Amino acid sequence: MKEVSVGIIGTGSYVPTRIMTNKELEQIVDTSDKWIVERTGIRERRITLEGQATSDLATEAAKRALDNAGISADELDLIIVATITPDMLFPSVACLVQANLKATKAAAFDLSAACSGFVYGLVTASQFIKSGLYEKILVIGAENLSKILDWTDRNTCVLFGDGAGAAVVAKTPPGYGILGVNLGADGSGASSLTMPAGGSRIPASAETVNNRQHFLHMNGPEVYKFAVKVMGASALKAIANANMSPADISYVVPHQANIRIIESAAKRLGISMDKVAVSVNKYANTSSASIPIGLDEAFRSGNIKKDDIVVVVGFGAGLTWASSVMKWSI
Ligand code: ACO
Repeated sequence: MKEVSVGIIGTGSYVPTRIMTNKELEQIVDTSDKWIVERTGIRERRITLEGQATSDLATEAAKRALDNAGISADELDLIIVATITPDMLFPSVACLVQANLKATKAAAFDLSAACSGFVYGLVTASQFIKSGLYEKILVIGAENLSKILDWTDRNTCVLFGDGAGAAVVAKTPPGYGILGVNLGADGSGASSLTMPAGGSRIPASAETVNNRQHFLHMNGPEVYKFAVKVMGASALKAIANANMSPADISYVVPHQANIRIIESAAKRLGISMDKVAVSVNKYANTSSASIPIGLDEAFRSGNIKKDDIVVVVGFGAGLTWASSVMKWSI
């Protein structure tokens, strides 16, 4: 049977208009612009307005991706939303987006793999198309992390931001699209990055609220060590899976958590930083949204062009990691 080629045929992204600078954070917690820039590379981040939910960001990014792909919402067979900050525990953000877009034919579900979520979603979508079940799938990474940050904890609140990115996934001409992948998880590291309460283990109560257990909790140095190890390793496995070497790579869109993590991954791959997408300075860590936002900005600015070999690589809570190598077809 002839192998079906599947890839991205359109991208879109949306970030909230409200910019929060490091200087503003100096008024909120005991931190400094200098510390944040030196340790993370972050200068500012986008923050949602009150009442602005994840599905609002996701819908806007989705509309832009559909427009870019030149297809209408009623052509979609499936919507996958990768997120750790859904509007509510259920229904899924994907169902809310389906209604907003009037994508009446589309099935819809959310996927939880934190910052690796968009790449997990991309690979999942490609399998539905390769199997012949579906033809056009919208994959969205959307986060509203500002709403689950503890704004009294300087260890975490300076690191994250809000936004959404989306991609339309469909058949591509032979030889284009996804050429290699690597997905992985190590649940033994689950406690490094969590929102402890509000689920079935620790249901919501006045006590959990008082104990600040509905906020994001992170062991930063643990996640840092994991990230530095896994980013380069996962990307190299995906590149090998595509029967390629790092010398073949035109552009890398890594998850944006910390400029030092990105630089160390680039070094491990032997790829110069001018071939690496960086937006952590302006958006901070937007979890599952950071890779699709990076892809959209790189594509629209001409940093990614037809025939380029593009690597996306992410890591995050779970712990999880995910990479994909694609030959860009648009
Ligand atoms: N401002 C000033 N000082 C701070 C701040 C802050 N915002 N935050 C921490 N510090 C202090 C610490 O308290 C510590 O002080 P101490 O030495 O007196 O105890 C000091 O700065 C150094 O702290 P370290 O943790 O050693 O700093 P480090 O250089 O490791 O940087 C950071 C911390 C930025 C969190 C880093 O560990 C990191 O980037 N980790 C990875 C985080 C990450 O990638 N998370 C996303 C995962 S993706 C997802 O799924 C959402």
